Amino acid sequence: MANEPIIQAQGLTKRFTVKKKTVEAVTDLTFDVGRGDLVAFLGPNGAGKSTSLRMLTTLIPPTAGTARVVGFDILKRPADVRARIGYVGQLTSGSFAQRVRDELLSQGAFYGMPRTAAAKRADELIESLDLGSFSTRTVQQLSGGQKRRLDIALGLMHAPPLLFLDEPSTGLDPQSRANLWQHILDLREQHGTTVFLTTHYLEEADRYAERVMVMDKGRVIADDTAARLKAELAGDVLTFGFATEADAEHAVAVVQRLTDRVVRREGTDSVVVTAPDGDSLLPDAVRALDAAGIRVARATGVPPTLDDVFLALTGRTLREAGEGEPVEEPETPESAQSATTGAQR
Ligand SMILES: Nc1ncnc2c1ncn2[C@@H]1O[C@H](COP(=O)(O)OP(=O)(O)O)[C@@H](O)[C@H]1O
Ligand SMILES: [Mg+2]
Repeated sequence: MANEPIIQAQGLTKRFTVKKKTVEAVTDLTFDVGRGDLVAFLGPNGAGKSTSLRMLTTLIPPTAGTARVVGFDILKRPADVRARIGYVGQLTSGSFAQRVRDELLSQGAFYGMPRTAAAKRADELIESLDLGSFSTRTVQQLSGGQKRRLDIALGLMHAPPLLFLDEPSTGLDPQSRANLWQHILDLREQHGTTVFLTTHYLEEADRYAERVMVMDKGRVIADDTAARLKAELAGDVLTFGFATEADAEHAVAVVQRLTDRVVRREGTDSVVVTAPDGDSLLPDAVRALDAAGIRVARATGVPPTLDDVFLALTGRTLREAGEGEPVEEPETPESAQSATTGAQR
């Protein structure tokens, strides 16, 4: 059991029918997540990220397929799944008039924790999520970043081994986002918590997640480390500039001998190639051009981003695909109750 993946999704599919129109939000989602992993689900708005999370957390039933989460079938044993996971939804939670520490204690009571255990846990979380200086403030007095950290603390009250976070950093300023991420990384470091989160910020997925699952139109279209996705699907963009058009023309043939990627002209005096091994190709190409008697006036290598990966996979950039800010989670009976789910609902 210890080696069993903490999430095993098999063919998860969700269709919504609204006013006789059917939307397939998620199609045939199949993947495993190992214990202790940090996985980012990256995709534009409407890709199906929240719907996937809501199936995995038993908030909505799949139309087809199933999953085992923390060792239990989401369809047959939803209460066992809920008791062992934390879930922080896309909307921020919290009863606004409650103080931070009381909010955590209520959450503990909700999970059936004895009061002393709840108090101990609340104080640990206040410490580790850096909520100490405002633990006696009411939730409505907190900033966006502080609220999001409280949300995460709420999701962690019962010390679940698996935490789902839906767009934890959306709407925060860059400083608060970096700070929130540091807390997420620390949690994982200190408690070995498996973290499965969604984001539409590609810089974040790139920088912090060790595994990135790229989702588009309800399907996972890539699943690997950010580094491998970038190397295999995008590659470094190398640009060489020359003094004359004739030199550029000649250079295409010289550089093309060094790579199986297509070397192309750009503008009148530049040559461009996108290659996974840019670090070595750049100096090799400059030497080969030199040897061929072609003077290189400029040479730059730009590493790819996950946006280049998304572009390579879909023909659109993530920013184009996402039109605007994220859609709010549609109001459903489950999401209307609270953004943080628990065991005894
Ligand atoms: N309860 C619902 N009823 C109808 N359509 C829904 C519902 N929830 C999500 N959808 C639709 O499913 C698609 C995926 O939505 P969602 O999972 O929220 O995407 P993401 O979280 O990636 O932005 C969207 O087209 C959305 O409008
Ligand atoms: Mg969403």
